[in-house]
Amino acid sequence: MKFSILSLVLLIGIFNKIRGDAEVCDDSVCTIDNNCRCASVNGPLALEDTPQLVVLAFVDAATQDLYKNVWGPLVEPRKNPDGEFISATFYLPHEYTDYQIVHDLAVFGFEIAAHSVTNNPHQEYWRNANESLLESEFGDQKKIIAKFANIPESAVKGTLVPQLVLAGDSSITAFVKQGFVYDNSWTSKTSLYPYTLDYASDQNCDTGSNCPKESHPGFWIAPIIDLIAGDGDVCATIAACFRDSNTQTAQEISDWLVNQIQTVKNSNRAPLTLIIEDNLFKSVNESWAGLNDALDRIQEDKEIFLVSQSRVIEWMKNPTPLSEFKTAAETVDTGCVKNTCALKNPSGDERYMVSCVPCPQNYPWLGNPEGQ
Ligand SMILES: *[C@@H]1O[C@H](CO)[C@@H](O)[C@H](O)[C@H]1NC(C)=O
Ligand SMILES: *[C@@H]1O[C@H](CO)[C@@H](O)[C@H](O)[C@H]1NC(C)=O
Repeated sequence: MKFSILSLVLLIGIFNKIRGDAEVCDDSVCTIDNNCRCASVNGPLALEDTPQLVVLAFVDAATQDLYKNVWGPLVEPRKNPDGEFISATFYLPHEYTDYQIVHDLAVFGFEIAAHSVTNNPHQEYWRNANESLLESEFGDQKKIIAKFANIPESAVKGTLVPQLVLAGDSSITAFVKQGFVYDNSWTSKTSLYPYTLDYASDQNCDTGSNCPKESHPGFWIAPIIDLIAGDGDVCATIAACFRDSNTQTAQEISDWLVNQIQTVKNSNRAPLTLIIEDNLFKSVNESWAGLNDALDRIQEDKEIFLVSQSRVIEWMKNPTPLSEFKTAAETVDTGCVKNTCALKNPSGDERYMVSCVPCPQNYPWLGNPEGQ
């Protein structure tokens, strides 16, 4: 038998090439100078030089109620250890979003990103979506945000898919075609640092997603590292961690969250994404107070920074050590003249869309982002 392991490896390699699958990542070739990084639990710097980056990721429509009562009081008065205001990423769906709030968030230095036009609640919709539908869901949402919040399209860099369900390579191809830089929808059991899809990813694939297999040079994946609920189950969003139990006190919720952050900080300091759904505040009475208290506590740690996801990607490309780390939130102010537009959505229901520019003729939607 001359059939060796080597020839088996070669055969698998050839088979993958025929199928178009990405090759195994070699970090001597895939270097950050080429905007390439292999999937890894090791960061670019020694641990003691690595700031612990934490991204608060909000995923609901920007409404007055949420902004005034929930998001604003949670994020606006806070500062990072470098003395700058914190940032966060708002992944926004279209329906019910008030685009004047979006404009204000961008002016305050928060990142605006895309969470689709329809925010369809069904996993199958996202798992089976084809490339053109995904281009429309995310590319049109970017255009809607840019036009009606009056911010540059280039400021909208990231995607987070509803239900955290990817449709394999179709999703990534659609995001690349629509000019996105990173995706933040893929959950990970291990504490991976963000990486590019030039080469094959060894990230586990198990939230009902089809995971990408082909090469997508230069496109970044910001993994959602699993959290561990009180009962030991893994969960991808804070609300999901309280699915089986919602009677905790604010103190218990705060202790749990501080512990989740400290656990990553004490292991490999991979950037941590915390997905914060409105559903959390509706289903867990003490969640806002608990979350607010946890943020107060981690702010006392001079090694933890609350930043946007695009700041995380920038840091991966140019990893400044902790002693020199700057929050450096991007701000854009292109003005906003408020218009409230009474329009009918595709189901014929009335929507009052607040816009920073004159009202469109029709409700912006898939295939018609300008509402012509
Ligand atoms: C993609 O899916 C949409 C919606 O299901 C469908 O209308 C369209 O024909 C599909 N496009 C292609 C190219 O398959
Ligand atoms: C949450 O608050 C509501 C209203 O005060 C109360 O009826 C409900 O029992 C509380 N739920 C829990 C789990 O404590």
